Amino acid sequence: MSTPLYHGGDYNPEQWLDRPDILKRDIELMQAAHVNMITVGVFSWSTLEPSEGDYQLDWLADIIDSLWAAGISVDLATPSGARPHWLAEQYPEVLRVTPERQRRLFGQRHNHCYTSPVYREKVRAIDQQLARRFGRHPAVKMWHISNEFGGECHCPLCQQAFRDWLKERYGTLEALNKAWCNKFWSHEYTRWEQIESPSPLGADTDNGLDLAWRRFVSHQSIDFLKWERDSIKAVVPEAQCTANLMYHFYDIDYFDLAKEIDLASWDNYPTWHKGSDEGKALDTALMHDLIYSLKGKPFWLMESSPTMTNWQDVSKLKRPGMQLFSGLQAVAHGSDSVMYFQWRQSRGSFEKFHGAVIDHSGRADTRSFAETCQVGEALETLAAVSGTGRPKQAAIVHDWPNQWALEDAAGPRNAGLGYWEELQRHYNGLRKAGLAVDFLNQDGDPAPYGLVVAPMLYLLREDFAEKLRRYVENGGTLVVTYWSGVVDENDLCYLGDAPHGLVEVLGLRRTEIDGLYDGETRRCVATREGGTATGSTLCELAALEGAEAVMVYDEDFYQGLPAVAKHGFGKGTAWYLATRFEPAFYDRFYAARRADCGLAPAWPVPLPEGVYANRRDRFVFVQNTNNKPVDLMSFVLPAYGTAVFEDGKRIY
Ligand code: GAL
Ligand code: ZN
Repeated sequence: MSTPLYHGGDYNPEQWLDRPDILKRDIELMQAAHVNMITVGVFSWSTLEPSEGDYQLDWLADIIDSLWAAGISVDLATPSGARPHWLAEQYPEVLRVTPERQRRLFGQRHNHCYTSPVYREKVRAIDQQLARRFGRHPAVKMWHISNEFGGECHCPLCQQAFRDWLKERYGTLEALNKAWCNKFWSHEYTRWEQIESPSPLGADTDNGLDLAWRRFVSHQSIDFLKWERDSIKAVVPEAQCTANLMYHFYDIDYFDLAKEIDLASWDNYPTWHKGSDEGKALDTALMHDLIYSLKGKPFWLMESSPTMTNWQDVSKLKRPGMQLFSGLQAVAHGSDSVMYFQWRQSRGSFEKFHGAVIDHSGRADTRSFAETCQVGEALETLAAVSGTGRPKQAAIVHDWPNQWALEDAAGPRNAGLGYWEELQRHYNGLRKAGLAVDFLNQDGDPAPYGLVVAPMLYLLREDFAEKLRRYVENGGTLVVTYWSGVVDENDLCYLGDAPHGLVEVLGLRRTEIDGLYDGETRRCVATREGGTATGSTLCELAALEGAEAVMVYDEDFYQGLPAVAKHGFGKGTAWYLATRFEPAFYDRFYAARRADCGLAPAWPVPLPEGVYANRRDRFVFVQNTNNKPVDLMSFVLPAYGTAVFEDGKRIY
């Protein structure tokens, strides 16, 4: 039997064990809402192990059995996202230490050291209890490892692990000192023990150290995830594991993390109805596409709020139709599930006003419950979409070490580089041109894509520059922006002509870069047709060495220098964008590139403003981000409406 599209969400029955009537009612309501997947166990540790070694799993067994009897599968979480009091009390080393070297008190979640052998041992013990008891339960289809990995710890154990990791990476202190340019300010290390994680009380402007620490934190978080995964797989080798990821996440290199899990999933909390819904839809779409790209296959939408999100500045309700739009948008971009945080709203504490399918009234005749049912029905109708992939058309390079290094450097614009804004502008232009967009890191392969965009690729690895060069030589179309090819993988500036590794491909070389104040702009003009555009943020100055200037700066002392340049290299074409243009520039630019590259948009004819199409294999989704109906000639899409076609025939 093929897998359905999953519908459900986080459920914390441990909060309701004294209300069997509510637990029973939950199952009836889940069935009414077409729910077929429920996540249990997130943050349940104090109920599963009330004191050390006293495992109480019967309540969970009852819940899993009742869910399964009702035809509902289970995504079983390990409880390591938050620990019980006894654990922190008996073993203080499990609590995190801040960058100021202060041990935190008990409280919050994610407040644990990923290195602590005690924490790891206790986590393995509870994970294996769960695996032995439930690992072969037919309901358990997925393991949800911990919850939203993130953060860092500066305890002595982590310092030691950091030094060991550095020894492994650099071999000798001499090599490390060289790679980090430690003669600068006399920061050379003479003993490994002198190395400390970055701290506001100590070194926090040493870029080489900072970048190594970011890599280490990412490595150590992933190592902890592997520890949990292997604990489960030691008991149930066939277990499928996921980890729920987050928006614009910085701490962990998700491309590395994704190699260690079977399925990527993420938690999506857009601030709908704040500014333009179209803008928010594109921002969300970028994230769906990034998560899809991590494994190049369908992912799960693990969490989303059915109504409001209580930790945001303003908890705004989703307008009618938005819950359905938002759920189906995830599916259109490659999700095989629509899941919520959470099924039933908690009575007290921090999340008592967070949106949930069932609120404190306990009623099923609410607006959100009705919309939840509509999502469930839609997912049943669209079941055949499950598992289908997406075409490879355009790719944007997004690389964690690049972002870490780029944002850590002093200059060229400490007032904000707007890295995500830069990615988003390219992304929006590509989407408006109707293209499917994947994301690549520097381990990725550009070859299958018709169009590859490398925005602000400041840290450019030699091997990736070589891949890009070959890609263009073999006929690819590459777009490179300002502030690319600046440093190597240790954040040491390349010597010689820049963008390093791409000078020949782009047919030009960077000479200088000018930082612009907020609100400052530079007019640019086309050299042939007379179009104009506006540069902002950073203006790179370049000398042409074979490329043709398609647009030039039209003011300031760099008037006449290239703002957009084009260069034929081998069988392909390389484009260079010297500054950050206004959003409309990218719409025109990528519409033209789609045409040159001969890539077919998901929908054959131009779509009205705010309407987007996505292809998954033989299915095409068309969605209206407008809060008003739009006419597509052969059909009308209501406000926030979705239509789905299978081989051209409308099925939803
Ligand atoms: C997520 C988290 C959930 C819940 C949710 C509320 O970050 O994984 O447990 O707290 O936020 O929006
Ligand atoms: Zn630690």
